[in-house]
Amino acid sequence: MPTISLKGTNMPESPIRKLAPFADIAKQKGHKVYHLNIGQPDIKTPEVAIEAVKNIDLTIIEYSPSAGYESYRKKLAQFYQRQNVNVNPEDIIITTGGSEALLFALATITDPGDEIIIPEPFYANYHAFASSTSATVIPVISSIENGFALPSIEEVEKLITPKTKAILICNPGNPTGYLYTEAEIKQLAGLIKKHDLYLIADEVYREFLYDKDDVHYSVMNLEEVQQNVIMVDSVSKRYSMCGARIGCLVTKNRDVLSTVMKFAQARLSPPTIEQIACEAAIDTPQSYFDEVISEYKSRRDTLITELNKIEGVIVTKPKGAFYCIAQLPIDDADQFAQWLLESYDLNGETVMVAPAAGFYSTPGMGLNQVRIAYVLNKKDLISAVNVLKEALLVYNKK
Ligand SMILES: Cc1ncc(COP(=O)(O)O)c(C=O)c1O
Repeated sequence: MPTISLKGTNMPESPIRKLAPFADIAKQKGHKVYHLNIGQPDIKTPEVAIEAVKNIDLTIIEYSPSAGYESYRKKLAQFYQRQNVNVNPEDIIITTGGSEALLFALATITDPGDEIIIPEPFYANYHAFASSTSATVIPVISSIENGFALPSIEEVEKLITPKTKAILICNPGNPTGYLYTEAEIKQLAGLIKKHDLYLIADEVYREFLYDKDDVHYSVMNLEEVQQNVIMVDSVSKRYSMCGARIGCLVTKNRDVLSTVMKFAQARLSPPTIEQIACEAAIDTPQSYFDEVISEYKSRRDTLITELNKIEGVIVTKPKGAFYCIAQLPIDDADQFAQWLLESYDLNGETVMVAPAAGFYSTPGMGLNQVRIAYVLNKKDLISAVNVLKEALLVYNKK
């Protein structure tokens, strides 16, 4: 038999999707499954984007330029500028989702074995992107006890070696909901300047902030280290357009851009029709975001209130994105999550959660934690947490 590559063999399974076959079995049994495992919002896509797709008047669905349509990049730059984020059209390459932007970023700056420091827990696919590009993830552990705040800058600095190429942050964070302060971002900027590293910031949840005085500080505004900064963004969550598969990579560094362009040219172009939808989406009225954010804020508050009612559960209030990590009174969240789907129901209902170990790269971390996505309406969230509560009682009596 021809063999599989080491890279492919070592590629981790997605902790978000790996239990899907068990969810299918639960559904075949007629059980309703509350999906708390995946960040697929139930929020409607803005009307302007849907209309733009309906009105498409093309006779050929052609390739777009590899960097994406210029008209879209111009409008996107204006979108950032309206938020006082320093981006020009020539700083942007449109990608097939934020996922491709992350892959291009790692492919551009790392050689096999180069190290990327990432605060953990982190978005599980960072593992997969690092594996694909043969980069090594070096985790810096943040903990549930202090709301997953960035560990001290000295802790981060201790991990820097001659192989370190970048620090990768997600702001606000998936799976923690942690929002970096301007001071923390500036501390990281000082560190990357001192050691001449890249700072990659995944800002795909930049709009999803819920507390009055919180503001998002973009790495694109770090004037002093502009050449070291790469921002990743996406329309998936902003406009609830996950299926459009459109994102972007943004940087002021021309060498990075010209190298990313080679990868972009090799995959020819980002999706054509979806870029038309995304260009139109930029005209989405502010009222859409006001409604969406207020909906998520009340979902967050509901979820945290309900989780705090369960004995033995530890959870911190996320400041942004739409996830939280919950520590459960169990030993093995993988087994528990599978048992929920395979062997448990409360009046025909069960829940699917994402075991959190897959969001860590340090072995043994997160074993009793799960990631919960608050992408369901409040009524369903309350029912889902109630199922979780009753399930924990049964599971711990077993
Ligand atoms: C933190 C983070 N980065 C990147 C992505 C990928 O987004 P996209 O759908 O744009 O590929 C996701 C998707 O859930 C995410 O949560």
